[in-house]
Amino acid sequence: MSTLALITGASGGIGEELARIMAAEKNDLILVARSKAKLETLAVELQKAHGIKCYVVDLDLARHGAALELYNRVVSLNLKPQILVNNAGFGEVGTFHENQTRKIEEMLTLNIETLTMLTRYFLPDLVKQKTGRILQVASTAAFLPGPYMAVYYASKAYVLHFSEALSIELKGTGVTVTALCPGPVPSGFQARANMKNDLMKLPGIMSPHAVAQIGYNALMKGKSYVIPGFLNWLSAFTVRFSPRCLVPLVVARLNRNRT
Ligand SMILES: NC(=O)c1ccc[n+]([C@@H]2O[C@H](COP(=O)([O-])OP(=O)(O)OC[C@H]3O[C@@H](n4cnc5c(N)ncnc54)[C@H](OP(=O)(O)O)[C@@H]3O)[C@@H](O)[C@H]2O)c1
Repeated sequence: MSTLALITGASGGIGEELARIMAAEKNDLILVARSKAKLETLAVELQKAHGIKCYVVDLDLARHGAALELYNRVVSLNLKPQILVNNAGFGEVGTFHENQTRKIEEMLTLNIETLTMLTRYFLPDLVKQKTGRILQVASTAAFLPGPYMAVYYASKAYVLHFSEALSIELKGTGVTVTALCPGPVPSGFQARANMKNDLMKLPGIMSPHAVAQIGYNALMKGKSYVIPGFLNWLSAFTVRFSPRCLVPLVVARLNRNRT
């Protein structure tokens, strides 16, 4: 029997690459995002190339209650995913008091509420089946405070801590939770965050495909977290031994240049 994976944010960037990798591994897929046309094009391509089944769910996950709506739609299709990938997320640069309140709310809903509640709705079935894998897309932003992207960095800290805690709770159940913590990746993320596209100047930039492959490998090994790329790993590691008052100042400088 083939495995079924649900991927949020599969219409572009890291999520689309995860879909491609999982399809090549002969997993059936439920592709979720708002861009229906992009999802349908991807579904047709992957079904043709790999002989798998793809289901498309177009849904705005930045609305309260979206996780339950998605869960109910999956149940109504009589589908039971064994892999859940909570990848959809976005950030925004700028000073917190000037960020649009609606965007802040949507970011908190998508990055935290939807991710948490999708995990909550799907997890009991996985535990009952004594098998399952969950990939939560966090960020290297999870390891430090992020002036000029304050809510985004804090939301990713939540994702990392939540996922690491669950991975301990679930020991011995057959279900694993993995947090993927990428550094900067060129994707639709920068435009949505209103960032200046200065990424290519940064050292150690990784492609969405490379990050997705490392995330997929860690997921399959049941690792509790993974940081793709040596430089990203080093920066996350260095933060732990740097003065707490210094770190946000360095991040502030980096992020201010992107506004
Ligand atoms: N790129 C980076 O530098 C970077 C670094 C570290 C972590 N990350 C994280 O990696 C994840 C994927 O980001 P990415 O770089 O691949 O960005 P991306 O290219 O912008 O892709 C984001 C995906 O999320 C979906 N999405 C956004 N808002 C949504 C909503 N309201 N409802 C449903 N789906 C929604 C988008 O699809 P639609 O627009 O069609 O809805 C798209 O498929 C995010 O959680 C991000 O925080 C990114």
